[in-house]
Amino acid sequence: MTNREAPSGRSVDESPGRRAMTARRWECLRCGAEVAMSTWMPFRCPNSTTRDRHHALSIVDQPTPVEIPADRHPFVSADEHLAWAACADAAGMDAVRRRALVLEIDDAVRDVGGVGFHVTPFERSSVLSDVLGFDADGGVWVKDETGSVAGSQKARFLFSILLHLRAAEEVGVLTERPRLAIASCGNAALAAATLAKAVDWPIDVFVPTWMSDGFGDRLDELGAIVHRSTRTETDQAGDPAMLRFREAVAAGSIPFTVQGPENALCLDGGRTLGWEIATALRHRGFAWLDGLFVQVGGGAFASATFTALAASGIDVATFPVQTQGCAPLDRALQRAGERGIVDVGFHWDELMTVWDDPTSLADGILDDETYDWVDIAHSLRIAGGSSVVASEAMVVAAHGLAHDAGFEASATGSAGLAGLLHVLETDPDRFDATSRVAVVMSGVER
Ligand SMILES: Cc1ncc(COP(=O)(O)O)c(C=O)c1O
Ligand SMILES: [Zn+2]
Repeated sequence: MTNREAPSGRSVDESPGRRAMTARRWECLRCGAEVAMSTWMPFRCPNSTTRDRHHALSIVDQPTPVEIPADRHPFVSADEHLAWAACADAAGMDAVRRRALVLEIDDAVRDVGGVGFHVTPFERSSVLSDVLGFDADGGVWVKDETGSVAGSQKARFLFSILLHLRAAEEVGVLTERPRLAIASCGNAALAAATLAKAVDWPIDVFVPTWMSDGFGDRLDELGAIVHRSTRTETDQAGDPAMLRFREAVAAGSIPFTVQGPENALCLDGGRTLGWEIATALRHRGFAWLDGLFVQVGGGAFASATFTALAASGIDVATFPVQTQGCAPLDRALQRAGERGIVDVGFHWDELMTVWDDPTSLADGILDDETYDWVDIAHSLRIAGGSSVVASEAMVVAAHGLAHDAGFEASATGSAGLAGLLHVLETDPDRFDATSRVAVVMSGVER
């Protein structure tokens, strides 16, 4: 699919529904290529190719504390800060129409999945705080995504892509529907199939051969076409499901995926999670945390969350968490440290390489390379914190502890807590009893 400029419409302040949008442009973290916010289908960097996917468009915006009150729709509250909305706005679709579109699709999502998008809870867990030795001034705060659409944070990332596509239809830029495509065998696939069904848009899901039958049944129920992907002799390194997905996209499908280098628009909606945490902190009277632990698979989750918090002026040390059996991000950061490389995006190929034989109980974060890693590296440099590699024993302990504390998260979804356990054990001076730290529980246990 080629990039298309929006039809140049009326001047920006003619319509009563017009707002000052804060997303300015897309910029590649590897090569610096710039793409206008008014560009339709701004999925990949113009310099990304079939054999060189190490490019990723990132949103350049005006840093602003985005307010997402608990009782309002997050995508309506954040409208003027979202990239999909800035593009629609430039094409003449005003705030009133955008709000109607969000609510219309949200109703359909609720019909399919039983729940629509909403601000998810962010609370201090007294169980976790007590067990881990924090006192009343400090503690462990939990952003609980297990009750979100399709049981995880993934749907937020896909919703911004879907809104962009539906807006493109509304303004007449997209006149027929190419199929949607995603490579995933977990929460992202479920979220994608749920959203696709809500708008009745055909979707192909590329999965590894080892995916469980039960999961396939659920995808079938949602009307997704499931493709079990095997490695071929001519395949380059990497996940075969991902390679088959890229072939589908090359043949015209739309990348409906939670990997920024494949579709940068996913990071747009993902930021709502960070903005919700920032808003909740401000309402509680403190705009900081001593640490935020986020489990990392492809990296979009940590990337979008850390970026949104930084843009909101929240002072927080960031801790991306991987497991011993799959830690390509940590290895890339170590290489950068050893080689004295600061601008990691320019050295992507040499630093980020494929992890052989990923394995962990946290099987949703077994991505053999971290796709969205450059912004995580930036946040570590600017906000402090460190990359964490949790042992399997920590993953198991965190999973049990999460359930004891009342969170029905999977081992993947509680892996951020495993990172906190790791730091408490290996670096006991890092936090004290009055420290305030946070984790995200996601991926409801199935
Ligand atoms: C529950 C849960 N948490 C975290 C992640 C990691 O997100 P990302 O791949 O964006 O790093 C995943 C990915 O599948 C997940 O399912
Ligand atoms: Zn690029």
